[in-house]
Amino acid sequence: MAVLRRALRSLSTFATVSNRCIVYAQNGDPTKVVKSLTFPTLPPPSPDTVNLRFLLSPINPADVNTIEGVYPEKPSLISNLSLNGLGSSEEPVYVGGTEGLAQVTQVGNGVQGLKEGDWVVMDKPQSGTWSTSRNVLSKDVLRLPASGLTEAHGATMTINPPTAYNMLNDFVDLKAGDWIIQNGANSAVGQLVIQLAKERGINTINFVRSRDDMTPLVKHLENLGATKVLTYEELSDKSLRGRVKEWTGGKDICLALNCTHTWFLTAQCPNNHFHSQHHSTYSKT
Ligand SMILES: NC(=O)c1ccc[n+]([C@@H]2O[C@H](COP(=O)([O-])OP(=O)(O)OC[C@H]3O[C@@H](n4cnc5c(N)ncnc54)[C@H](OP(=O)(O)O)[C@@H]3O)[C@@H](O)[C@H]2O)c1
Repeated sequence: MAVLRRALRSLSTFATVSNRCIVYAQNGDPTKVVKSLTFPTLPPPSPDTVNLRFLLSPINPADVNTIEGVYPEKPSLISNLSLNGLGSSEEPVYVGGTEGLAQVTQVGNGVQGLKEGDWVVMDKPQSGTWSTSRNVLSKDVLRLPASGLTEAHGATMTINPPTAYNMLNDFVDLKAGDWIIQNGANSAVGQLVIQLAKERGINTINFVRSRDDMTPLVKHLENLGATKVLTYEELSDKSLRGRVKEWTGGKDICLALNCTHTWFLTAQCPNNHFHSQHHSTYSKT
């Protein structure tokens, strides 16, 4: 991660004097296979394509797994960065990165619904966002609303928010008043789950690791809409089963979301406080 962060920082340092992107030609240890590639100013876009300037390009753990070659999603080789050498059709490369907020700088003939200055995100995973600029097909970007979003919102909206949304929609037909449970509740995905559930009147029981001062974290999650916030240590408390029954009115937990892959809520759970109808592990590690 540190190597990638240093490489990505070099993008912003040199952004005004040249185009740069973070590339790799084969899978492997990111510290060994990743390179920074300088490429010329983009020519005007060909028909149906747009030129983009990336404003923010985060590193997601899935990006690292993709470089390592262990992630199911496979990127496409890119050959329009240079006329020859690395990044050309002679030596196509993968450009790292899935998430990123870009601004349209030029629009090719025939492009509908996009104009210079629009904020966009890529609509496919691993499209190569670790770049100062890119020329891409206009159909491969999604235009964002002109107001109401920060750059950070735009740059982080294509992985974690849909993950939280899909987990709440794809497994169980949840209704207002239902109860769900999750661990890693303070993770980015966990916080999104809390907010989306709250919007729908769904109750959440949220587990987090304990820390010296729990109050700020508990307050933060409650402010987002968490119904209950507990630490893993509380699983050993035999009285928890009774408290949970009281909270839920004896109803089953409808959905259990496992963020950390290290423990779970039925057989392995001390005292087996929770019986969940559906259990989803979304952690990759
Ligand atoms: N399947 C998918 O499509 C998909 C999509 C997005 C994310 N994910 C996965 O979802 C998980 C969360 O992603 P994120 O971006 O939301 O993560 P994040 O914001 O970085 O949060 C990581 C969470 O994991 C907890 N954690 C770390 N090590 C732990 C350990 N040893 N035991 C217990 N808890 C531990 C952290 O707790 P502390 O604050 O106490 O350290 C924190 O709550 C990751 O595994 C990610 O790969 C999967």
